Amino acid sequence: EKGGYEHFMLKEIHDQPKAVRDTFGTHISEDMSQALFSELNWEASDVDSIKNILIVACGTAYHAGLVTKKYIESLARIPVNVEIASEYRYSNPLTDSSTLCIVISQSGETSDTLAALKEAKRLGARSLAITNVVGSSISREADQTVYTWAGPEISVASTKAYTTQLVAGLLFAVYLGQLNGKLDAALAKDILIGIHELPELIHTIFEVDEDMKAFAKHYGFKTDAFFLGRSIDYAVAMEGALKLKEISYIHAEAYAGGELKHGTLALIEEGVPVIALATQEDVFDKMISNIREVKAREAVVIGIGMKGDEEIAKHVDHTIYIPRANKFIAPILAVVPLQLLAYYAAITRGADVDKPRNLAKSVTVE
Ligand code: F6R
Repeated sequence: EKGGYEHFMLKEIHDQPKAVRDTFGTHISEDMSQALFSELNWEASDVDSIKNILIVACGTAYHAGLVTKKYIESLARIPVNVEIASEYRYSNPLTDSSTLCIVISQSGETSDTLAALKEAKRLGARSLAITNVVGSSISREADQTVYTWAGPEISVASTKAYTTQLVAGLLFAVYLGQLNGKLDAALAKDILIGIHELPELIHTIFEVDEDMKAFAKHYGFKTDAFFLGRSIDYAVAMEGALKLKEISYIHAEAYAGGELKHGTLALIEEGVPVIALATQEDVFDKMISNIREVKAREAVVIGIGMKGDEEIAKHVDHTIYIPRANKFIAPILAVVPLQLLAYYAAITRGADVDKPRNLAKSVTVE
């Protein structure tokens, strides 16, 4: 059942090309010009009535929400708030009938997320679930559901559910932007072609497997690690840090590139591993400056860049390239090396990869 892999987590990392393909499925028109959601069947007036969007989720799904915020705000120009479900439900929120509440949940059973959804509905919000489990409590509670088709995720650490959540979020953002006329047709097409190519591109990333294994062996016994990124890469950094902490028990922190100097730069000293993401063209130079700041303090830096942006290699100790892709596609690729790093770090430390301590697959208690 592990398909020849040693752990479910590794199998599920390798399931991602198929999971992504099954998730975009019939949501891209044949000429690649339109995002389609026959299960929603919205018209322009449906989008016009939405003045703000609220995304609520927990853990990895919350990180998918942070990326989805960037997608929706960039492509459909609708303001989005992302809230941790357990915070939202007790926050006396400013939700009303002009709000679209999107809940993201792999299991569809997370109790905090379900309660947040009920609260948003009570306040008059329209609701949409993005979930991986057909007929789950969250899909039954939401007005409408978009399914991810990652297949069963057995490993506690979420991998393929996350990447499919990003695909669903990106397709939905394109859908909104096409319905409200805010999205340029050429950009829409570029993104949809990019989504269509994702399965093959993810396959090519598996080539970094040996590199990640080697980094994990080298750095797997350090006590701390830092993940840096700007813009969408910051959200990916948060997910990378969570994966590493969750299964290898190495303390990791994610920082927005520009924020480190306002906080814990003092913790960056000789030999501290820093994983620096630099896939976002509009902030690439700024990210290089941030990499120089940590290199000046003798951190060991693993840079994640896009093929063609070879500049990064001059500033870091090791470079991992993801295939060149549209900036909205990049996070779906960039997370894969981080998943592998966490996996091999856990192996190096002899941790139980698929069943990390104190964590359940589906958290149905508050
Ligand atoms: C992390 C992880 C958890 C879940 C969180 C939400 O790898 O698995 O952080 O993402 O408990 O679970 P769902 O998505 O089922 O609501």
